[in-house]
Amino acid sequence: MKITVVGAGAVGASCAEYIAIKNFASEVVILDIKEGFAEGKAMDLMQTASLNNFDTKITGTTNDYLKTADSNICVITSGIPRKPGMTREELIGINAGIVKEVSSNLIKHSPDAIIIVVSNPMDTMTYLVHKTLDIDKNKIIGMGGALDSARFKYRLAEALDAPISDVDGMVIGGHSDKGMVPLISKATRNSVKVSNFLSPERLNQVKEDTKVGGATLTKLLGTSAWYAPGAAVSSLVHSIACDHKKIFPCSALLEGEFGLNDLSIGVPVVLGKNGIEKIVELDLDENDLNHLIESAEGVKKTNSLLNL
Ligand code: LAC
Repeated sequence: MKITVVGAGAVGASCAEYIAIKNFASEVVILDIKEGFAEGKAMDLMQTASLNNFDTKITGTTNDYLKTADSNICVITSGIPRKPGMTREELIGINAGIVKEVSSNLIKHSPDAIIIVVSNPMDTMTYLVHKTLDIDKNKIIGMGGALDSARFKYRLAEALDAPISDVDGMVIGGHSDKGMVPLISKATRNSVKVSNFLSPERLNQVKEDTKVGGATLTKLLGTSAWYAPGAAVSSLVHSIACDHKKIFPCSALLEGEFGLNDLSIGVPVVLGKNGIEKIVELDLDENDLNHLIESAEGVKKTNSLLNL
């Protein structure tokens, strides 16, 4: 199992590190345009192998796509990250050019690869990859909902004063401050609905804190977060690489599911060796469905900035 991670920035490096630590891949190639940067990150990570007990071989390359040839899974993290006060949508112009070029280069050398898009604005970048590459729709996956759901569970556990392992919840919709749809009505603590424990006001606070999860960190860190994004990507890669068929909310191309068409947006999917094996059309109450439809309108508006 060979995995390429494009972008040796904080998210890319953290993703490569988590993949290596989980020890399921034979090889991870990190590629970056900055001379020597990916090579340096790869060497540093390899020097943790004896400490963290992994056998995955990590190598780095400065923009040589030949080194990525025959990858099974490729992750695109390249592009500029958010600065405090910026929305993910403001990155669109620069990142669109980068994502188009990177995805074309990747597929030239790994025609059978499954592509995971992390660059922002992620749903639009995922849709752009669909429009750029002539490959099956199940092989293009946007990472956003898995991260937003992890942040949702963190906020739920905090409000419940419970361990995170006791909490289950999912965020669907667009990966943007306005577009996220945390499914409060379906969230549980060990099978018990969270509304049994928390007031509507407290639940609303959890929802709002979740939606600005990325922005809160960008303000604290001065740039966008990397540990949880890297861990979220590695979880998707793991489920695909080992054909675990786990369910994650991911940005998927919709063709009528949830009554939506012609966009990529976060919905629950089964991830296995073929990428998106199934889109799970869960029952949504009227309120959540309306939020998803509103969120889709927002994503389409961003897509239209690229004439998509
Ligand atoms: C975030 C970026 C990865 O939400 O979109 O932290």
